[in-house]
Amino acid sequence: MKKEWKYGKPSKNAPVTVQDAIRLRRSIRRYTGERIPDEDLEKILDAARYTPSPENMQMYRFVVVRDDQETKNLIADLAVEAAKETFGTFPAELTQGRIWYVPPDRRPWTFTEMRDGSLFEYPRYADVVIVACASESFHDAPIIYPLNLFGSICVGMALMKMWLMATALGYGAGYQAFPIMDPRRNELIADRLGIPRSWHVVATLSIGVRGEERMIGPSRLTLEGLFYKERWGNPYVRKAFLEEE
Ligand SMILES: Cc1cc2nc3c(=O)[nH]c(=O)nc-3n(C[C@H](O)[C@H](O)[C@H](O)COP(=O)(O)O)c2cc1C
Repeated sequence: MKKEWKYGKPSKNAPVTVQDAIRLRRSIRRYTGERIPDEDLEKILDAARYTPSPENMQMYRFVVVRDDQETKNLIADLAVEAAKETFGTFPAELTQGRIWYVPPDRRPWTFTEMRDGSLFEYPRYADVVIVACASESFHDAPIIYPLNLFGSICVGMALMKMWLMATALGYGAGYQAFPIMDPRRNELIADRLGIPRSWHVVATLSIGVRGEERMIGPSRLTLEGLFYKERWGNPYVRKAFLEEE
């Protein structure tokens, strides 16, 4: 099913440099439903192989949901349900500040779509939904690592690489925690896909032909807002910026 282009028609100009891909990557939440050529899809999947991990344990696995429309529907339905729970129960007056970064003319319908969950239905229309799994059990590692988020950290890195590759090839991708955030929904997906207990689902990434063009925003913290110099609280001051003046 085609979604209307609320942000205008997507351009065909694919960015090529890493810097471009980083700057142009956005959460794409509308897809045309078209198929990506297998070659491009596999370039995107291949990007995940180069993910760094402790002792190269590669404690990440991905289920590529592509042909099973029912699973995509389940993921979409769970996302909508979770979004309704998150955004739908509070008065608009209290929560619309959360979308301060959306241009004013787009806020009313964005907010409506957040509250009724339809903004998060997009896994239904994506060509592929990647269900990303992490393991924190360190498999055959000779030492015990004290940090038990390593698997999830690695998955995050892998997903970002796929997201950047998709962007560089001109496709869209969108990360969703909504379908898997609640343990009961998470388990429904794990059961359906036969994911063993030693692995946990940490995210879904939808990938497809973009049904929307998105602007560069939302605005991000400045370097000064994000980094401290030498010590927490000591503002980082951009040297290049000063020298360029
Ligand atoms: C951990 C995490 C969870 C997120 N969960 C969702 C989600 O459930 N649904 C969704 O549509 N976007 C989700 N996002 C995407 C963010 O909303 C998005 O990255 C952020 O608003 C910045 O916009 P941008 O990605 O277009 O730059 C998530 C992002 C992260 C990193």
